[in-house]
Amino acid sequence: MDKYVINGGKPLYGEVTVSGAKNAAVAIIPATILAQGPCLLENIPEISDVGHLFEILTMMGATVRPVSGTSVFIDTSDLSSHKVPEDLARQLRASYYFLGALMGRFGEADVPLPGGCDLGVRPIDQHIKGFEALGASVNIGHGYVGIKAENPVGSHIYFDVVSVGATINVMLAAVRAKGLTILENVAKEPHIVDLANFLNSLGADIRGAGTDVIKIHGAEQLHGTNYSIIPDQIEAGTYMVAAAATKGNVLIRNVIPKHMEAITEKLVKTGVSVVEYDDAIRVSGETDSFQHVNVKTMPYPGFPTDMQPQMTTFLSLAEGTSIVTEGVWDNRFKYISELCRMGASISVDGKVAVVQGVPALSGASVRAADLRAGAALVIAGLAANGKTEIEEIHHIERGYTNLVEKLRSLGADIERISVPDAGPACTG
Ligand code: EPZ
Repeated sequence: MDKYVINGGKPLYGEVTVSGAKNAAVAIIPATILAQGPCLLENIPEISDVGHLFEILTMMGATVRPVSGTSVFIDTSDLSSHKVPEDLARQLRASYYFLGALMGRFGEADVPLPGGCDLGVRPIDQHIKGFEALGASVNIGHGYVGIKAENPVGSHIYFDVVSVGATINVMLAAVRAKGLTILENVAKEPHIVDLANFLNSLGADIRGAGTDVIKIHGAEQLHGTNYSIIPDQIEAGTYMVAAAATKGNVLIRNVIPKHMEAITEKLVKTGVSVVEYDDAIRVSGETDSFQHVNVKTMPYPGFPTDMQPQMTTFLSLAEGTSIVTEGVWDNRFKYISELCRMGASISVDGKVAVVQGVPALSGASVRAADLRAGAALVIAGLAANGKTEIEEIHHIERGYTNLVEKLRSLGADIERISVPDAGPACTG
């Protein structure tokens, strides 16, 4: 069982470079199935979710060959199956993007119901609504989603909820459908735009990504491409909050400041200094105290839900009372009981957390319940006095490239240690 051990209380100083965006990469890798030619993907994050997607593609008959640490050659010309292996698919949520990609390529798909972070109910009704509107028949049974769509035809689809996953999956299914598809009430996250740009580089005709309405003219032929993935908005935000919470001063490189606006706005309100450059942001928490602020998570360009645990952790050290409202997920406060073990004073009522600032946190043994909950506990451990041990770190390594090395380069006292499993408990 691997864990992180952190000796906290040290301000972070120096520079860190952000890696490619997880939530863009996990959509673009399955999307290579639509390319009728080889793709070279660059700025790929080195995370376990990406590793699982490469394994799935390889098992389905694709050629996947790393070119360098962050560049990969993918050729899906010889893909021989439209069925995704269950064990790998259940490791991550984004395996459901094979539904749209395989429907777009073969008019047929068999994909296990996805895994991913447990954030409450995570239905896929909007994905299915979109596939059916394009003329597919969709069956769910034996833990699999089966799609058949002989001649998908463009359609006008209005999503009932703003969903990143449904927007992406239906875009994948529609790029080769006959005629015009109009998607309304879509998600506008940076990774939606990045996927649309990738698909357009294959020869697709997608307009309006990043706005509320996306228009797609179906393409008969798509080709290969070389494409570089955008920087990770959430990884950058995590380092911004870590710099603030440890009262450090960090330059975060390879960032698109526009993507960070909602996070920057809240940090500045607490008294943190944030300076934007063309492709970097400097964050300084070198101040005596921080002010409380209220946060409500919303779809982009609102405050990202994937930054809520990290921000709440920081606000647990701000003076006064902050109100944090989770506007996207039903159950995204599971990490708070662990934070309270470290001395935070937070009460939760449904989707609202009341955060009473405390002067300091103290190190403790805690468990990561999911990816961003784990990132929040790392920040808590860096800010806390004394030693923190974080278990279940596999959740964190699903979405952060070289986290330990990057934090150590900023002066953090953190190490990753492997503890041999104790083996079966003595039942005598
Ligand atoms: C994506 O999840 C991200 N995952 C999540 O990030 C992120 O929290 C979420 O978008 C919101 O930004 C990936 O990109 C791989 P949604 P997704 O569909 O697509 C409801 C991380 O930490 N809904 O936008 O699953 C749903 O219940 C992860 O990197 C339906 O009702 O999220 C939720 O309340 C965690 N029906 C809301 O919409 C549907 O068919 C938003 O979900 C689909 C969604």
